[in-house]
Amino acid sequence: MPNGWPPAHPQPNHEIERTMTNAFTPIEIQRPNILEFGNGTIAAAARFAERIGARRPLVISDPFNARRVDTLALPGAVKVFGDVKPEPDLPNLEKAVAMAKEVKPDLVVGFGGGSAMDLAKLVAVMCTKEVAFADIVGPEKVAGRNVALMQIPTTSGTGSEAGTRALVTDPVSQNKQAVQSRFMMADIAIVDPDLTLTVPKEVTAATGVDALAHCVEAYTSRKAHPTIDLYALEGARLVGRYLKRAVTDGSDREARAGLSLASLYGGYCLGPVNTTAGHAVAYPLGTRHHVAHGLACAVIFPHTLSFNMPAMEEKTVAVLGALGLPERNDLGLAFDASYEFCKNLGIEMRLSALGVPKNDLGVMADEAHAIRRLLDNNPRDLSRDAILNMYEVAF
Ligand SMILES: NC(=O)c1ccc[n+]([C@@H]2O[C@H](COP(=O)([O-])OP(=O)(O)OC[C@H]3O[C@@H](n4cnc5c(N)ncnc54)[C@H](O)[C@@H]3O)[C@@H](O)[C@H]2O)c1
Ligand SMILES: [Fe+2]
Repeated sequence: MPNGWPPAHPQPNHEIERTMTNAFTPIEIQRPNILEFGNGTIAAAARFAERIGARRPLVISDPFNARRVDTLALPGAVKVFGDVKPEPDLPNLEKAVAMAKEVKPDLVVGFGGGSAMDLAKLVAVMCTKEVAFADIVGPEKVAGRNVALMQIPTTSGTGSEAGTRALVTDPVSQNKQAVQSRFMMADIAIVDPDLTLTVPKEVTAATGVDALAHCVEAYTSRKAHPTIDLYALEGARLVGRYLKRAVTDGSDREARAGLSLASLYGGYCLGPVNTTAGHAVAYPLGTRHHVAHGLACAVIFPHTLSFNMPAMEEKTVAVLGALGLPERNDLGLAFDASYEFCKNLGIEMRLSALGVPKNDLGVMADEAHAIRRLLDNNPRDLSRDAILNMYEVAF
């Protein structure tokens, strides 16, 4: 356990647990209209495109996946935007939208990790009319969509294929801006685990913990809901069972399939419930210091899991059990066990080794603390100084 952890913590607050949502709390759940899941389902891409009579499909992809667009066997005059950057920023989005305005696609396909799928969502709603990105940031500001949208994940992490949200970094404010719209939900999501067989070890580990973080943060959120809890806990269990296996042997198809399912379940958690402190505290690592999203989530995971434990005892113990870790209601043990879980996956857990400068920790804490859309749903109030303490311990 790093020095300074665990910090002093209050008595368990059952009052907080009582104010959580339950089966009486209304919830709206949106899913892709069609979901194809399983090895070989990639063939559904061509079938769907033929069925809707697509003539000008535009694939939004990162350079790796752009090289294998032919495997989709799409009909018509297929065009590819193959320049999606990891953690895309506004200029990257603008380039993709500019190309889409020329191509005038009738079908937009996100083919890649969360970065490509998020940009595909935005391209699909921005390519047929003049839409300023700043005007659609936030929940349900998008007026509509006139092209079909297909999502095909090639990493097991974000679950973006099943959601209505897209994240883009504003290079000026260095903040992740979230657009959320029902019009960005895919008409069809195709989750073919074989597409993830090529994901490198480090990306497998980090994206796997991202999926885990989606499940755990939703499960322990103030907005947690029984209709989502099932997916959340099962997603954590799948990560516990398969992530180490996939990191050890990338060609383990069973493990890859389990992780694709975990990632999808994480996506189910994001829409109606969403993440909390883990993602808020992780974001400045990516936006200010270009630490990959999954890696940032992994570094922060043990800190927020254990910090939240006093307000979410039973659920945190259930998460530990799902991961195959000791099911003990002990904050220090929870930290140690979840830290070792990530470290055993080969994840670099020290901010200093990830290129984060010590003199930026204060500004990072300010920024993370300002992400109220996530922190307000955290089960325990997380002060700016507690965030700074997490960064210092993780340094
Ligand atoms: N929309 C959402 O709900 C949501 C949720 C979580 C994260 N995100 C966003 O998703 C982005 C991160 O996505 P990600 O973690 O999937 O990473 P990514 O899409 O940035 O991809 C990471 C790297 O892996 C490569 N890659 C992708 N698939 C591969 C494959 N099959 N084989 C080999 N290499 C492959 C890519 O080229 C890239 O270099 C961030 O911008 C994050 O904010 C969105
Ligand atoms: Fe995430």
